[in-house]
Amino acid sequence: MSDEALQALSSLDALDSRALEAWRVEYLGRRGRLTRILRGIAEMPVETRREIGEAGNRVKALLEQRLSEKELEAKAGGVAVLDALDVTLPGRTLATGRLHPITQMVREICSAFEELGFQVVEGPEVEWDRYNFDLLNIPKDHPARDMWDTLWIDHVDENGERDMLLRTHTSPMQARVMEQTKPPVRVVVPGKCYRHEATDATHGWHFYQIEGLAVDEGISFANLKGTLYEFARRMFGHDRKVRFRCDFFPFVEPGVEMAIDCFACDGAGCRVCKQTGWLEILGAGMVHPNVLTNAGYDAERYTGFAFGMGVERIAMLRNGIDHIRHFYQNDMRFLTQF
Ligand code: FA5
Repeated sequence: MSDEALQALSSLDALDSRALEAWRVEYLGRRGRLTRILRGIAEMPVETRREIGEAGNRVKALLEQRLSEKELEAKAGGVAVLDALDVTLPGRTLATGRLHPITQMVREICSAFEELGFQVVEGPEVEWDRYNFDLLNIPKDHPARDMWDTLWIDHVDENGERDMLLRTHTSPMQARVMEQTKPPVRVVVPGKCYRHEATDATHGWHFYQIEGLAVDEGISFANLKGTLYEFARRMFGHDRKVRFRCDFFPFVEPGVEMAIDCFACDGAGCRVCKQTGWLEILGAGMVHPNVLTNAGYDAERYTGFAFGMGVERIAMLRNGIDHIRHFYQNDMRFLTQF
């Protein structure tokens, strides 16, 4: 029987796992031919039992060994056993990564300004009080500090006063850039900011801003308007109108808030613009002479403009997103739409 079994096995295709299994059942299965012989030993005369039993076990070991060699033969070629491979099944899609919608927005905004001659620079998120406030014309007792509810770091200066914080806006980079370079300056600064404030649909305790600064001889408010108008057209469409209204920021004079006519309804009034026809997108103004002087610039000779915008706000407006939290919940159903 062992010769017959081995012959039958050698004639089988190693890739045909069904035939191999049928062979195993035929000879080695619970009701297989060899198993039956081994079971029958108990009824044989005592003097032959031992010999036949040993021979039977040797045959069993041999058949098992040959079967596993046959199976290895199929795997050694790197081929999966035939019926485990269905070449007609659609392939599994590889999950490819992508940039976060806010990163995409940051890059898009920055490249719009790069095309207008601005350079992209970055700065620290843990900042000194001096850069975040003092050098920006916001002294210690100035009420404007209330506008930027601050997350302070446990660190004090020589007078025992807190002096380190998580930056509340990207504006400290105005002072840092001017401190390190001479005019002409044209930079945009993307980065994360932090404020100790309650979360609502448009506010989080951390968010992104992009700051802009241009300083040179003879820069006027017309340059500010022209640059930001061109930016708005690139981001929101060529038919956009812009509106500037007075606003207050201690580090600019005059200060403005810029709005665009609603791209969803062309200014007629809709849900996106809350029926006003206008969307506020950034704060801006002419750099305050005190800020220029603090940075060591001659405020009689140089002028400049600065602006700052919230990246989430622009991404929300452009894509009709109703809550800032969607950006930070890692929900793939949201993220894969971008
Ligand atoms: C500022 O932070 C000024 N530094 C902007 C500026 C720069 C003005 C240069 C003039 C010259 P404001 O606090 O308004 O301004 O913030 C600017 C934008 O950041 C807001 O319009 C908003 O889009 C975004 N922003 C502010 N706070 C939050 C918040 N908690 N969550 C999400 N976005 C925020």
